[in-house]
Amino acid sequence: MKFIVLLIFSLLGTITATHLGYDSIFSFGDSLADTGNFLHTGALAFPVIEKLPYGETFFGHATGRCSDGRLVVDFFAEAYGLPYLQPYLVVAKDGKFEHGVNFAVAGATALDSKFLYDQKIGSILWTNDSLSVQLGWFKKVKSTLCSSQEDCANYFKKSLFLVGEIGGNDYNYLFFVGGTIKQLKAMVPLVVEAIGAAISSLIEEGAVELVVPGNLPIGCSAVYLTLFRTPNEVAYDQNGCLKQYNSFAKYHNVQLKLALEKLSIKYPHAKIIYADYYRAAKRFFHSPKHYGFSDGALVACCGGGGPYNFNNSARCGHIGSKACLNPSTHVNWDGIHLTDAAYRYVAKGLINGPFTSPRLTYSPVKDF
Ligand SMILES: *[C@@H]1O[C@H](CO)[C@@H](O)[C@H](O)[C@H]1NC(C)=O
Ligand SMILES: *[C@@H]1O[C@H](CO)[C@@H](O)[C@H](O)[C@H]1NC(C)=O
Repeated sequence: MKFIVLLIFSLLGTITATHLGYDSIFSFGDSLADTGNFLHTGALAFPVIEKLPYGETFFGHATGRCSDGRLVVDFFAEAYGLPYLQPYLVVAKDGKFEHGVNFAVAGATALDSKFLYDQKIGSILWTNDSLSVQLGWFKKVKSTLCSSQEDCANYFKKSLFLVGEIGGNDYNYLFFVGGTIKQLKAMVPLVVEAIGAAISSLIEEGAVELVVPGNLPIGCSAVYLTLFRTPNEVAYDQNGCLKQYNSFAKYHNVQLKLALEKLSIKYPHAKIIYADYYRAAKRFFHSPKHYGFSDGALVACCGGGGPYNFNNSARCGHIGSKACLNPSTHVNWDGIHLTDAAYRYVAKGLINGPFTSPRLTYSPVKDF
């Protein structure tokens, strides 16, 4: 039986190896991309991701993904006919990495955790597995995949590197302990530099096609809307989002895009693709019904009450919270993260649509 299963897998392997598309995906980032690393480390800061309702819509059980189902990276895997990416920490010892692996860790920052410790707020970090730690893991994996430079170049020419979203938490942590927009703006160049440094390293290791997402419209997320709620109507845009937090996300994105343009000049053989998560998600808030988000885009599906169904004392999964009946009518899953339905639209908008620039080399091999 085991032999037959192996045989089928190796046949499938041969088919996927010759298809027109990516052969592997390597993913870095935070909870927007983590498929189980943080859970594997114990998830002390966020233990509810080990149980339902996390995972209820698609997997039917909790997987460590911060959603009711799949994430953007999962839809990328589906679109290119690849298996879902295994979390690196789960498979590190005996993993087969030929189709890639996922290094993203929920709560991870672009800056090293030392930065937050130096600011005396290290204790609020969920994890120390920042972008540079994830890069170190990649280097270990690489040594199992190829050896000579030529060998590696050959291998990575059909690999897609998803670098992010990352950086959102560097700001979240500081906003949530009372950092002002002005203070946070001063941090943007550091965060962007950290992301740029990771991209340079990856390219020097052999990566040739990299997708780098920007930040989401955080002013539309239930956690920001709840924590920074104000009676001042002019603080909100026509969709009910907090204008200055959205402007901050755009400020980060503009600097990130500039940094990517510079890197593209420095590494002309590489394709560095900006993924516009901001605009891909902003559509939902502008015309939620068009995407089936009939319960509006601002109220979280799973939470413990309040105008946005986000209650810091009863977050999704904790006593006093409950999940909505149909997550696909919501953009926001737990106040912080998006639903399977919303991530699917974001992924479609990147793979088929206008939100990647330059465009991805390969078209999807499957509808998703
Ligand atoms: C991160 O590292 C610091 C010291 O470097 C340590 O005290 C802390 O427990 C670590 N945090 C986590 C979540 O592992
Ligand atoms: C938030 O949760 C706490 C704890 O369950 C509860 O006492 C409180 O009423 C909730 N707040 C709102 C606005 O629902």
